[in-house]
Amino acid sequence: MVNQQSIIQNKRKLYIESYGCAMNFSDSEIIATIMTENGFETTNNEFEADVIFLNTCAIRENAEQRIRDRLKHLRSNKKSNKDLIIGVLGCMAERLKNKLLEEEKLVDVVAGPDSYRELPKLVAEVDDGGRAINVLLSREETYGDLNPIRLNTNGVSAFISIMRGCDNMCSFCVVPYTRGRERSRDPKSILIEAKELQKNGFKEITLLGQNVNSYLWFGGGPKKEFKSLTPEEQINSTDFAQLLELVAIEVPNMRIRYSTSHPRDITENVVHVMNKYENICNYIHLPAQSGSSKVLELMSRNYTREWYLDKIYMIRSIIPNCGISCDIIAGFCSETDEDHKETLSLIEIAQFEFCYMYKYSERPATPAAKKLEDNIPESVKGDRLTEIIKLQNAISLKKNMTYVHQVVEVLIEGDSKKSKDFWMGRNDQNVVVVFPKTTESKGDKVKILIENATTTTLIGKPI
Ligand code: 5AD
Ligand code: SF4
Repeated sequence: MVNQQSIIQNKRKLYIESYGCAMNFSDSEIIATIMTENGFETTNNEFEADVIFLNTCAIRENAEQRIRDRLKHLRSNKKSNKDLIIGVLGCMAERLKNKLLEEEKLVDVVAGPDSYRELPKLVAEVDDGGRAINVLLSREETYGDLNPIRLNTNGVSAFISIMRGCDNMCSFCVVPYTRGRERSRDPKSILIEAKELQKNGFKEITLLGQNVNSYLWFGGGPKKEFKSLTPEEQINSTDFAQLLELVAIEVPNMRIRYSTSHPRDITENVVHVMNKYENICNYIHLPAQSGSSKVLELMSRNYTREWYLDKIYMIRSIIPNCGISCDIIAGFCSETDEDHKETLSLIEIAQFEFCYMYKYSERPATPAAKKLEDNIPESVKGDRLTEIIKLQNAISLKKNMTYVHQVVEVLIEGDSKKSKDFWMGRNDQNVVVVFPKTTESKGDKVKILIENATTTTLIGKPI
């Protein structure tokens, strides 16, 4: 008979590397859960792995290029371990499908975001000498029944995925094609996961979805609008404002954040719920993408510059100190100097805490790739991006300087990147704070007097 010890020793080792957005990092925890339930154990050492999964991103060309380079590099691991199985999962797998098996001869498994339950079977197919692929997208899968194990965790903050897919069809974006139709997860399972995190000592939860404000639970399946539900479904449904409130009440001692909001769908209700509960952080990520209504229309964002700015006024009128961050794309198809100036002026008016800023990267098969010409020269995209970054950095610095001499509450996440003698955490508005260690521990909430600031960081001392 095989004893328990030898079973443990014989477990095959899985190494997962994640790229892209928080949703992908959260998916890697789902993948690890499925694999460990099927006899694997995770490792942080790629050289002792029997299986390496890259959980990939396809959002911009350079994201995919990075992964191709990594795959080439992994060839050497394969040389020293001929049984090593390499899988490409996630958005790039979904976008390129079996092209990845054909082009990158070192890939054994290709699996899209909705086929992770099949991974043990796919690996077994490779064990039997084949190569394996599953890129079917689902209309129902939310992995809601799984209780994810936490990977590379700081033990303080964790993600909870509340929905999957995206129905927005922004013309530049590959996500609807890589992650499929939008569907929401059963709120009961979300509350169970939140409680479990609290039990395990976590202090902060971020509710994740491509477009959290369109979260709507009515029993499962592809997204529907509230007005198209039956009266019974309407009574029993849960929208995002309700979900946020349920989570805030369920785990009153945990900080709650969420991401990402679409400006078209964010409602006053959600902002009122944020305002009502002390434990919901005053921070909203609200990507504008552009400040020009003409460009926004070409992007199929379904709002105008004025609509976007109205949302900013609405948020700040309810929560004056709300931190707001943004995504901006520079050099989208047909963007003129005038359009670009409108983006600069929107940034100036909105006064974001911070911004994620990108050059437009055409993605094959998206509506923009099919219908619009990627006609802004790279050098112009680069110049515009530089100008946007310069402006936003000045605003971030100015906003961060307003914290100097103020006391903020910080949740300690771990050591600061630069020095083990300093803690790093975030304030309510999601701004990074570092301060010298005294008697505190990771996971504590502490009051910090801010003494200095940079574009990205507040520097202070405990009081
Ligand atoms: N090119 C550049 N940036 C993009 N994003 C999405 N698609 C593209 C693209 N094709 C940006 C958007 C989005 C963020 C996650 O990535 O700003 O909000
Ligand atoms: Fe996330 Fe989009 Fe990248 Fe997929 S393509 S990993 S959804 S950012």
